[in-house]
Amino acid sequence: MTVDAVNPETREVADLKEPPLAGGAVPVFGHGLKLARDPLAFMSQLRDHGEVVRLKLGPKTVYAVTAPALTGALALSPDYKIDGPVWESLEGLLGKQGVATANGPLHRRQRRTIQPAFRLAAIPAYGPIMEEEAHALTERWRPGVPVDATAESFRVAVRIAARCLLRGQYMDERAERLSTDLATVFRGMYRRMVLPLGPLYRLPFPSNLQFNRALADLHLLVDEIVTERRASGQKPDDLLTALLEAKDDNGDPISEQEIHDQVVAILTPGSETIASTIMWLLQILADHPEHAEKVRAEVESVTGGALVGFEHVRRLSHTNNVVVEALRLRPAVWILTRRALTDTALGVYRIPAGADIIYSPYAIQRDARSYARHLDFDPDRWLPERAEEVPKYAMSPFSVGNRKCPSDHFSMAQLSLIVAAISAKYRFRQVEDSDATTRVGITLRPHRLLVEPVEW
Ligand code: HEM
Repeated sequence: MTVDAVNPETREVADLKEPPLAGGAVPVFGHGLKLARDPLAFMSQLRDHGEVVRLKLGPKTVYAVTAPALTGALALSPDYKIDGPVWESLEGLLGKQGVATANGPLHRRQRRTIQPAFRLAAIPAYGPIMEEEAHALTERWRPGVPVDATAESFRVAVRIAARCLLRGQYMDERAERLSTDLATVFRGMYRRMVLPLGPLYRLPFPSNLQFNRALADLHLLVDEIVTERRASGQKPDDLLTALLEAKDDNGDPISEQEIHDQVVAILTPGSETIASTIMWLLQILADHPEHAEKVRAEVESVTGGALVGFEHVRRLSHTNNVVVEALRLRPAVWILTRRALTDTALGVYRIPAGADIIYSPYAIQRDARSYARHLDFDPDRWLPERAEEVPKYAMSPFSVGNRKCPSDHFSMAQLSLIVAAISAKYRFRQVEDSDATTRVGITLRPHRLLVEPVEW
């Protein structure tokens, strides 16, 4: 199906059907308990009920889109905006004027400001920092000494985002604070999203106090970074300079609040997503030694035994396919939401104005209708001749359309480089206390992955 085929303007409204109610709803809770109990399994079976289905979450109706072509149509259509409960709770904590939550003309202007820092041609300038950070990991790790994958993955993700995008020496120490704060804030945000218990989060329980402290420190850090950059009088060619120099539609400088919210809105998705993906990559290298060995061999053949660098990444095609396959089976962003701005349609289905819509890249990317041996970890499915078999929009871990992740090139470059650098030096094995079962939060990641580096 093409995107044109789902354009509501080409259809008579009378032709449209109401999406079927997904099976399994129970009185009062509807599908809510099933969704809360096992969200990944629940989302993954919805396509059996239809390409667009209605869900009852308590008294509320939510529309779930289950077919790849229709998720593409949804992401590309101007009839929907970013909104819904997930975004409302994020906005409350992180600010209302950041690019990840803004809509309409404000969002378009903000994307124009941040885009140059992420364009393909800008990435090589980040190469030396990515290299330094990737090799710093292998130097910190010791053979036989278990690595806490959660802490280490967060650390490297935050350091790369902060050092590349908000350049400056002062970032080196602050990156540590940022990563500790962000890990606590993300944990608390997910709890507040799935258990919206309002006033209970204001009580002085240790977990609430810890969350409040981390959130306050995150905002303080961002203010410190902005203030220091201004005081330095320097204007390096980076994202922070772009934000400090940005003008609104009247040609006036954007507000302090907007600058602040923008920095938060870029650092937060930038660290949690990359960190989760690194954790899964470590789990894959540990549990599939044959893939670890293939990556090591590729790195050696491309570098001739020299330290792997940014300039090698383009030629590390198998390593790159390992990262892509990890993003297919373990997409960091596993659920996305939109809200219909107007009465509209998806395929043959009527979508009323104001409807909340969800879809799951996790479910789409693991669907047996789109992938042979759909649950196998098979990086070779991304070889050019085989990749053509994948239906359109069945693999969009960075999404498409006007909300597409600006950081796809930036992310792929650092992930491939990190996998190459750590695999060149070590293979990995999970230690006894490690728990690699999936923890569902704002992103997906292993519960508590502990891996031991072993020298080749
Ligand atoms: C948006 C995925 C890394 C910054 C998104 C969206 C997805 C995504 C799916 C679209 C959300 C939607 O459609 O509602 C990922 C994945 C990553 C990654 C899988 C890594 C594995 C990063 C990094 C940064 C970043 C490293 C910044 C340093 C953003 C921003 C948005 C966004 C600012 C909001 C864009 C907008 O609404 O216009 N990301 N992301 N992401 N991502 Fe990423």
